[in-house]
Amino acid sequence: MSDPADAALAAQYEAYPYPQRDPRDEAKRLVVGSPSHLREVDHWIFGARRAAAVPLNALIAGGGSGDATVMLAQQMAWAGRAGTVTWLDRSAAARKLAGARVAARGLGNVTFVEASILDLPGSGLGPFDYVDCCGVLHHLPDPLAGLRALVSVLAPGGGIGLMVYAPHGRTGVYMLQDALRLIAPPDRPPAERVEIAKRLWRQVPETAWLRRNPWITDHLKGGDAGLYDLLLNPRDVAFTVPALAALVDAAGLEIRCLVEPFRYDPDSFLTDPRLRERTAALDAIGRAALAEATAGNMGIHIAYCVRKGEGPPPPPWDDPAAVPVLRELEGPRLAAQIPPDGVLRVGFDGLTVPVALPRLAQAILTRVDGRRRIGEIGDDLAARGVSREAFARDMAALARALERINRLLLAAP
Ligand SMILES: C[S@@+](CC[C@H](N)C(=O)[O-])C[C@H]1O[C@@H](n2cnc3c(N)ncnc32)[C@H](O)[C@@H]1O
Repeated sequence: MSDPADAALAAQYEAYPYPQRDPRDEAKRLVVGSPSHLREVDHWIFGARRAAAVPLNALIAGGGSGDATVMLAQQMAWAGRAGTVTWLDRSAAARKLAGARVAARGLGNVTFVEASILDLPGSGLGPFDYVDCCGVLHHLPDPLAGLRALVSVLAPGGGIGLMVYAPHGRTGVYMLQDALRLIAPPDRPPAERVEIAKRLWRQVPETAWLRRNPWITDHLKGGDAGLYDLLLNPRDVAFTVPALAALVDAAGLEIRCLVEPFRYDPDSFLTDPRLRERTAALDAIGRAALAEATAGNMGIHIAYCVRKGEGPPPPPWDDPAAVPVLRELEGPRLAAQIPPDGVLRVGFDGLTVPVALPRLAQAILTRVDGRRRIGEIGDDLAARGVSREAFARDMAALARALERINRLLLAAP
C-alpha cells in the first residue's frame, strides 16, 4: 500500500469499524436503508422481471460493520429467497463486528472475504448478480479503478447499488476536516485525533457551517466511528450528480435510478411555468444537477446502475400479473395516513413536497399486501362498482406518485 492516505484509511477502519454497531442490537431492530433493500434491488435493478426463485448472489463491497450485509441477508432469509450475500472488506475489525451481527441473527446465507476491492479482478470471486458499494468509492485513491473492479465481477444482466458523498449537503464538513488536519494530522494515533476533534467541536463557533447544517449528524450520533469518518477521514471526495454520472459512464454503466427519484426532479419544487419551460429542455442528468444545486440539501447520492444498454425495460406497472409492494409500510397503514385532501406531504432531509394521490388511492393501497396482483386488486374493486377505466387510470397515477418517492414498487415475479 504505497499511498499514505490509503494506509491511514485502512488504519482508521481497524481502529473504528464503521458504522459503530453493537451486535446485541440485532435482537431489537433491523437497520434498513438504501441501497440494497431487497425490494429496491428487485424493482430498480431487475425491473421486477427477475424471478424470486432464481438465486441471488450479492457482493457487499466495503461492507464495513455489516449494515447492508445484514439487511439484505435477513430480507432474503425472511422471504425464503435462495442465494448468498458475500461481505468483502479489508478491515479485520469490521469483519469481526459484521460476523457477530450475522451470527446474532443466525443467518446462514453470508460469506466473508477479507480482501481489497481492487483485487477483485482475477480473484475468482463472483460473478455477482448484484453489487453494493455504499460509502466506499469516495475514499479510494482512484474511485474509477474501484468501480471498474466491481464491474469486473458483475454477472451479465446484474446491477450495482452505489452511495457516494455529495458536496452541497456536506457544507461545513470539509472546512472542519481542513482545521483538524492542522491540529490532529493523519499521522497521529486515531484515539488522539478523536479526542482533539471532540475538543474542537465543543469550541467551534456558531458561525461554522457545520453547526448550521442539520442534515449531517454522524459527529453527533455516530459515536467515535462516526466522528472519525466524518471529520478525520484521510480521504473523502464528494460527487455532484454530473460527476457521479461521468464516473458511472466511464465504468461502462448507466444510472437507472437516483434515490429518491423525486428529489432529482426540479419540477418537484419549481412550479413556475416559465422555469418549467427551461427544466423541460434539460436532459435527465441536467435536471438532476439543477435539483441538486437548487435544493442544496443532498449530502449523499444513491444510484442504482446497470451496464450501458443492458438494463431491463422499466417495471411493468401495466401488467395485471405484477404484484405491487410497499417498501416498508403495510398498504392499509399507508392508506390510513392519506389526509382528507388526498395530498401526502413527503419530507426528505428538510425538503417537503406535496404528493397528490388519485381518488382511488386509499381503496387500492388497502389491498396492497405484497401478494395480490394488480389484476386482482382491479377485480376486487370492479366487484364493488369501480369501473375498469377508473381503476386503470388511478392505479397508474398512484404508481407514478409513489414510485418516485421510492415507496411503491413491484415485487420480483
Ligand atoms: C465508510 S465505511 C462504509 C461501510 C459500509 N459500506 C456502510 O455503508 O455502512 C468504508 C468501508 O470501506 C472499506 N474499504 C476502504 N477501502 C477498501 C478497499 N480498497 N477494499 C475493501 N474495502 C475497503 C473500509 O475498510 C470500510 O469498512
